[in-house]
Formats: sequence, structure tokens, C-alpha cells
Amino acid sequence: MRKDLVSIADLTKEEMLELFELAIEMKDKVKKGVEHHHLKGKVLAMIFEKPSLRTRVTFETGMYQLGGYAIYLAPQDIKLGQRESVPDVARNLSRWVDGIMARTFAHKTVTDLAENATIPVINGLSDLEHPCQILADFLTIKEHKGDFEGLKLAWVGDGNNVCNSLMLASGILGVHMTVTTPAGYEPPEDIVKQAQELAQKSGGSITLYNDPFEGVKDADVIYTDVWASMGQEAEREKRLRDFQGYQVNSKLLENAKNDVIVMHCLPAHRGEEITDDVLDGPHSVVLDEAENRLHAQKALLVKLMG
Ligand code: CP
Ligand code: NVA
Repeated sequence: MRKDLVSIADLTKEEMLELFELAIEMKDKVKKGVEHHHLKGKVLAMIFEKPSLRTRVTFETGMYQLGGYAIYLAPQDIKLGQRESVPDVARNLSRWVDGIMARTFAHKTVTDLAENATIPVINGLSDLEHPCQILADFLTIKEHKGDFEGLKLAWVGDGNNVCNSLMLASGILGVHMTVTTPAGYEPPEDIVKQAQELAQKSGGSITLYNDPFEGVKDADVIYTDVWASMGQEAEREKRLRDFQGYQVNSKLLENAKNDVIVMHCLPAHRGEEITDDVLDGPHSVVLDEAENRLHAQKALLVKLMG
């Protein structure tokens, strides 16, 4: 395994499957109250340039359950790149702690941290990718659907960071993924190309659509996310208009398989990209995904820092 998890494509299929096995094993231990202090005495520094509920709580809880400790560094604490350069922060942290998790705006901030730190660096969401989310998502899909091969996963919404990591992971795992966005909101061409190349080797596929009903046809999984991500607040009104017709609602679900599961990384904007009845309905697995952030990330922490 590489030193860092900057992109989900830093992992091979075998490494991902190993992480899921370890996550399931430790999830079982949590449920049974069995101690599993694989990271006794280890410390994780958590750098946040953006807000978070799930990422912060699951990394912090995860480190505690593993017998270690996590330090939360809020945006105003270190003023990354302003008070001190990113490489200097990475070099200093490397002398004290055993790992860094960073949630950033620019993806380059995570790559710069990784290049300059001698300890593992984990991407806890950048403008380009959200690999930890995707580990939890495929763990959730495994629990609900069993196998990945031949599975059809339909993304509906913005071609954003979560979509990018999902495409790459689908390419690695051999999943057939459709990406339906309004024109102009497609994911970056270089990531689509990278995901398609991975899919060619694994037997999966990545196909872009503009019509949601076509995109979700016979889907096993439908996935959506907010229309304006953190950092895009100024574009919110325009995006609300441009994404009309791309809502995940019960009418759209009728086009998918009867046993389709609906996923969302959360936080959701209810009534915008997804309706209440779908988010809270029988097809929704969003809280399983949220729970699995804890278990998938603990497996990752053990593999990288253990
Ligand atoms: N899904 C996710 O990363 O949630 P937070 O932004 O609350 O961490
Ligand atoms: N695409 C969203 C994901 C939040 C977890 C964002 O970047 O804000």
C-alpha cells in the first residue's frame, strides 16, 4: 500500500477488498464491545479548511476506538498556507504525530502535504476528490448487494469531487457507472478518461448522460449529492436553476431496478437534489453510508499507520 491516500486511485482492487474485510471485522468488534487497540499511542492530526460533521466525528471516534488520539485543527488555528506554508506544516507535524488527515479547498494542498510529510496523509475531501467517502460507500454497497461486478451505479447531479472518486473506484472495481449531469456540469475530462481506462481493464464502464431517466435505467444504485459544493456558495442560485429536472425523486426511482438502493454522502439539501420521501424511504441507505465512514476509515488508519 502507498504511504498516502490522496486519490481513491492510489488503491488497487485487492487493497480495497482487504480494507473492506478489515472494516467488517472491526465493525463486528465494535458491535460486540471487543477491544481492538491497533493504534495504541498513535496520534492523528486533522486539518480542516471546510466544515464537517461526519468526517470529523468518524476520524476522531475511530482513533479513540483504536486506542489512539486525534487532534482537531480548525481553519483559524493554523491558517494553512497563510501563517505557515503547506510544506512547513507537513514537516512540523511529521516530527510529532503519526498521520495527517486533511480537508482542503485546493487538491494541491493535499498533494503538497503528502509530498512533504514523512507520515501518511489522508484526503478527507478536496475540491477534486473524496476517497474516504467512497471507501464507506463501496463497503455499504458490498453489504447490501454482495458483489461489485456487473453492478450498475447511476450518479445523478453535479460532476463533483464525490462523483470523481466514485468514477475512479467504479473503474477499479469493475462497476458499470453512468454519470448524468446537466450540460456544462460534467466531471473533468481527465478524470473521466482515467476512470474509463481503469474500467477497460476491470470489465466495468463509465458512461456520461444528460437525461436522468436514461441514466438510471435498470440501476442497482442511484447516488446523488448537493448541487453546490462547499466553496461554490456564490453559484448557488444559478445552480438551483440549472439543475432543475435532476432531482432524485420517486418518479425517477421507477426507472431503476425494484430493489435499487439510494445513496447520498450527506449533508443533503432536502427538496433540492433529493426529496424527503426518497431520502427517508425504504430504498435509502444513507445512514448506513454515514455509519460506514467510521468502519472503513478505521481500516484505512490501521493499514496506513499500524
Ligand atoms: N460526507 C461527508 O464528508 O460529511 P461531512 O462534510 O459532514 O464530513
Ligand atoms: N460535494 C460536497 C460533498 C460534501 C461531503 C462538497 O464538496 O461540499
